[in-house]
Amino acid sequence: MSNKLQQLRGTKDLLPESFKVHDYIINTARKVGELYGYAAMSTPIIEYTKVFDRTLGDTSDVVSKEMYSFLDKSNDSISLRPEFTAGIIRSFISNNLHDKLPLKFFSCGPVFRYDRPQAGRQRQFHQVNFEYIGTDSPYSDGETIKLACDLLAALQLEDQARLEINSLGCRQSQNIYQQKIFSYFNDYKEQLSDDSVRRLAKNPMRILDTKDQGDKIIVQNAPLVSECYTDEAKRYFDAVLKYLDLLNVNYIINPRIVRGLDYYCHTAFEFITENIGSQSTLIGGGRYDGLAKIMNGPQTPAIGFAAGIERLALMRQYNLPTIRPVFVIPIGDESIDSCLILADLLRQHNIQTQLYAQGKIDRRLQYALNAKARYVIFIGTEELANNKYKLKDLDSRQEILATSEEIIALIKQAPK
Ligand code: HAM
Repeated sequence: MSNKLQQLRGTKDLLPESFKVHDYIINTARKVGELYGYAAMSTPIIEYTKVFDRTLGDTSDVVSKEMYSFLDKSNDSISLRPEFTAGIIRSFISNNLHDKLPLKFFSCGPVFRYDRPQAGRQRQFHQVNFEYIGTDSPYSDGETIKLACDLLAALQLEDQARLEINSLGCRQSQNIYQQKIFSYFNDYKEQLSDDSVRRLAKNPMRILDTKDQGDKIIVQNAPLVSECYTDEAKRYFDAVLKYLDLLNVNYIINPRIVRGLDYYCHTAFEFITENIGSQSTLIGGGRYDGLAKIMNGPQTPAIGFAAGIERLALMRQYNLPTIRPVFVIPIGDESIDSCLILADLLRQHNIQTQLYAQGKIDRRLQYALNAKARYVIFIGTEELANNKYKLKDLDSRQEILATSEEIIALIKQAPK
């Protein structure tokens, strides 16, 4: 067996090409968020486990099977964040931000879930995340969903995903639904998987997102939450849909969306694609008016969503512009000093410059070509003596002799 060290299963190195795409997605998301007034913020990757377990639901897959939890040296139970929302609301409460409402937060970074890895599903993945805290009007649901559409459009993915939306109803609708769905699944108790039987006692709604094939057949005919909407829930949902129409957002109402986390109420939505295999949800989100209260904070309505960066990255080839560097290549060791000084001068003029002093000249030139350099500057004994350097344009293959000032002027004029 090889002793070569490998990364953990379900984690990936972001080598420069993929890092660039991730960076592009994050910057695009942040810019789109800024148009709506979202400010970037960040919370720790590790939190006390209690930030997540009750809030996301201890019968949810994310908490019961997928959390990376451990005891630290003080015997405190700590977890790697399995999502952003609970940590952000914890931060909202710990920093006493209630008098600053409404707040709009943009975050991005790694998220951890112990699930079976496959294309588009990792154990460490990355999200861009948006939270709009402190509004309980349906126009904010409309705006938030339009923001998600704008994000997809900015990434040129708008034609590749469809919006599916549902309402999970108000608290009262959910209470009625819990009872209804309990009695439905109770009739199938003997056929349900052990997991679902456990959920039946604690939170029967969670059976709806079972991964067990046998359970799925029973779920197909389960009552829908829409059968339990109160007038308030119905009014709210109708208003959200009206705002989506106003903003020209296309949607499909999917009464079977339940979302995998417990904190949602009213609006729940997902952007689904056919293009990246079975892990087809690009964006998931919804309203979570009760979360701050569950975390012993003030009652604070909120809505948000997150997009998986890896899944967005899989959607298409992102041909991102590269800045073409200048290469300074010494010919002979005696010109290294001058090369160092020239490279430094170019960088002071904001010109991306690399000095490459080792190995055969041909290999160095090839390296410069691979790095998509436009110009190479050679400095040998002759150039040192004349104080003029040989500048080669790798596109036109032309060479000129020029002073450092002339070289800087020429490079700065060149089209990017
Ligand atoms: P979520 O639906 O659990 O929602 O995750 C959001 C997105 O993260 C998914 O649509 C998917 O693109 C990506 N994702 C989830 N799991 C994985 C995985 N194992 N590998 C790769 N990508 C994955 C949330 O996390 C909520 N906190 C969203 C939210 C924010 N709701 C309100 N505010």
